[in-house]
Amino acid sequence: MPLSRRGSGSVTLATGQTLAIHTRTHDEEDLPHATKKTMSDHLRRLENLFTLTPQRMRMIVEAFKDTLELGLEKPGQVVPMIPTFVFGWPTGEEKGDFLALDLGGTNLRVCLVTIQGEGKFEITQTKYRLTEEQKQDDGQKLFDFCAECLQTFIDTSLTDGTSYLKNGQKIPLGFTFSYPCSQERIDHGVLIRWTKGFGAANTEGRDVAAMFRQSLEKYQLPVELTALINDTTGTLIASHYVDPQAKIACIFGTGCNAAYMEDLADIPKLKDFNIDPKAQMAINCEWGAFDSLLHEELPRTKYDIIVDESSNKPGEQAFEKLISGRYLGEILRLVICELIDEGVLFLGQNTYKLESPYVFETAFLSLMESDPTDELLMIIGIFSHFFAVETTLAERQFFRALAMLIGRRAARLSACGIAAIVSKKGYLEKGCTVGADGSLYNKYPGFADRIHEGLVDIFGERGRNITTHHAEDGSGVGSAIIAAMTKKRRSEGLYPNL
Ligand code: BGC
Repeated sequence: MPLSRRGSGSVTLATGQTLAIHTRTHDEEDLPHATKKTMSDHLRRLENLFTLTPQRMRMIVEAFKDTLELGLEKPGQVVPMIPTFVFGWPTGEEKGDFLALDLGGTNLRVCLVTIQGEGKFEITQTKYRLTEEQKQDDGQKLFDFCAECLQTFIDTSLTDGTSYLKNGQKIPLGFTFSYPCSQERIDHGVLIRWTKGFGAANTEGRDVAAMFRQSLEKYQLPVELTALINDTTGTLIASHYVDPQAKIACIFGTGCNAAYMEDLADIPKLKDFNIDPKAQMAINCEWGAFDSLLHEELPRTKYDIIVDESSNKPGEQAFEKLISGRYLGEILRLVICELIDEGVLFLGQNTYKLESPYVFETAFLSLMESDPTDELLMIIGIFSHFFAVETTLAERQFFRALAMLIGRRAARLSACGIAAIVSKKGYLEKGCTVGADGSLYNKYPGFADRIHEGLVDIFGERGRNITTHHAEDGSGVGSAIIAAMTKKRRSEGLYPNL
């Protein structure tokens, strides 16, 4: 990047935008001594607040394990440990054309997945952006929009027709709906609560599969909803399809959660369901809810408490609010705002653009941490372009250090969740891989390495037996494989249970 230590230039963001950069005519050496000292004092204070010691992590892991057990024992717990009615691992023999509809935190995606067996598949997909209004509007309207997008996809992408369309049959569809739903069979699920800022009315407490079927009928689509799937469950199955060492799946994106395969004998709350006790079933942990309501286990800072209390779901998703992409930028923004109020940052500048909640995206933390320049040009660009403020080098170094603290804490807490499942299942000695996906995992520099460091801090050297890998597309491919597994079970007369 052709930039002198002082002066002007430009920098290109990951979004493709080019930012003009004008550095200030003073840098750290020019600042009054008191300002420098105050900023490093603050950094030390924040370091204490955001740093998790190995000992504290091990305490969190123990509490986490108890919570997982409790969720398996009794229905309706804070961490609900949802039985998914996905029985066991795929054989690798699954084949056919399947549709997958993925309603995640940010986008809606429609895919046609052709599973070819032996870990191979082909995928054609289209993404549709969800607006903030759609997330808050009536739930049935949201599902109608899903059906409309599905119709467009079928009309435009399946023109030569899959074998199903040719025969006039319905195409099986896996619906990846990544919010906590309690299930009693695979093609049904009652929404426990919205997460990730969604709030569509008339949906919580209702069977979202039935609501979506109503929309499919309205648009008369040649589609049969075969399975309702969480993104973590899809990721678990898709990861295992290509790597049998994958035993756990995690999503670190707008939200955060994990799934793993459990023995029926260890799910006491299913004892009346008449299922083969030797069977296995995937569990969607919904671990984002860990330590919700009581807030006894996690080290929340005053910034985390503000994020929680000003969210549309105060008290809920306590673990997720310290980790996921929806919240990290907001945590950093709150620290900055406090220091503006205290007269430590941006002296004499108008900072109103930093004052609106959620304007500071988590993607900015990734960009700040990966800024390769001595002058921290990316950080100059972010603050001047998006917030119309100029930064000193000292301020930029401070922001980068702060991003590192917040990002590192998120990764180390994630390690605690993984460690709890690993130790509950006894995977430490033989080791296993964790299929992981989501924007934070895929795009935040060093996130995976920090999880791995965290696992070593918890377990010592044996922690190296557990590694995370970027997962196969769980919400698309995983959903299709599960739809295929379900179709096979139905044809063998094993629906709804084994
Ligand atoms: C949801 C989970 C989902 C996770 C990742 C959380 O907010 O409750 O169901 O798996 O986000 O998308």
